[in-house]
Amino acid sequence: MKTINIVLFGVGNVGSSLINQILESRSKIFNSSQIDIKLAVIVNSKIAFYNKDDINNSWEADFKSYGYPYKLSQIINHVKKEKLTNLIAVDATASEKFVKNYKELIRNGFNIVAANKTANSLSDKFYKDLRLELKKHDKQFLYETNVGAGLPVIKTVQDLHLAGEEITKIRGIFSGSLSYIFNSFSSNNRTFSEVLDEARNKGLTEPDPRIDLSGKDVGRKLLILAREINIIKELTEVKIENLVPNHLNGKSSISHFNENQQELNLNFEERRSNLKADEVLRHIGELGVASGQLEVKLVTEKRNSPFGSLQEADASFEIYTKNYGNRPIVIQGAGAGARVTSRGVLSDLLKISEKLECI
Ligand SMILES: NC(=O)c1ccc[n+]([C@@H]2O[C@H](COP(=O)([O-])OP(=O)(O)OC[C@H]3O[C@@H](n4cnc5c(N)ncnc54)[C@H](OP(=O)(O)O)[C@@H]3O)[C@@H](O)[C@H]2O)c1
Repeated sequence: MKTINIVLFGVGNVGSSLINQILESRSKIFNSSQIDIKLAVIVNSKIAFYNKDDINNSWEADFKSYGYPYKLSQIINHVKKEKLTNLIAVDATASEKFVKNYKELIRNGFNIVAANKTANSLSDKFYKDLRLELKKHDKQFLYETNVGAGLPVIKTVQDLHLAGEEITKIRGIFSGSLSYIFNSFSSNNRTFSEVLDEARNKGLTEPDPRIDLSGKDVGRKLLILAREINIIKELTEVKIENLVPNHLNGKSSISHFNENQQELNLNFEERRSNLKADEVLRHIGELGVASGQLEVKLVTEKRNSPFGSLQEADASFEIYTKNYGNRPIVIQGAGAGARVTSRGVLSDLLKISEKLECI
């Protein structure tokens, strides 16, 4: 039997869903793999809840009632004092500040699973230093949900690359929220602003939808895939079409954007009116290996093409390689959502567990 001890950083949509899925699946996992998953500490940006007993369905109330302000060093001291082993830190934050703690966590015995894309999309120096630290301390870092949420995109790219298969191009609808927005906008006559509100009300966009519309999130995912196949780039080198006009961008407040988002309508309606009957708008990311170009843009696709016929908030990835020729490997399905993402995180946790000691 193996016990793994998790410290969960981030108890938002993904973190909460992960706790609930662990509660739902724990006995099944134990019966099939003899792995006992313990949630040792649960942390948000302000408080930490040290879980002495086994976590149960009242975790949310316990977290609020018994959580208290913390420093990272106190969490590290706690796991040492309790002699917890097989440690895995889960990063379910979106924080750039938090990833600066990874090295300290690794030095103190933690493996890492991240839904947060930041560590893999900061500078090339940070990316390489992190991997050196992992190697030095013989620790693992998995982040399958960084691209395509629960879809096995990173693993597929890694396996192809490891086997020496030459990847020539990756092209995809990387963002579930932008997929939903342009699938809806292209196939009816509603204004862009109405469609954006609908996507926001369904919880598909970030609370600030400019994070989606700016294309930066897709740019990050593209960079993460590029780095998997040894293309050395920085985020600033990704060519990104920003769909937010300058005067409504991140330098102005979110309420200013919300009050004025109708100003986006004119541009998008013009683009829609230029479409032929068999065409739709799609938001894509494209990585050309030969050109070394990474590009995020809004394009016109044939309605009956693979991307043109996507539904709802589906993501779709086409991986072109030398041996697969012009018939790419296609990975498609729900590309966003807390439940599919947390299932991907849980799967990463179990993969790491396979290599940990039986205790
Ligand atoms: N939702 C998806 O479909 C999806 C798919 C793939 C990847 N992801 C990634 O998953 C991550 C989590 O997404 P989410 O939707 O769950 O976000 P969220 O609802 O905003 O939750 C973020 C959580 O992180 C906590 N946090 C922020 N800074 C922290 C810090 N320095 N230390 C500890 N905790 C901190 C927040 O605490 P407070 O409440 O105290 O601020 C909150 O509990 C993001 O990186 C996102 O990009 C999401």
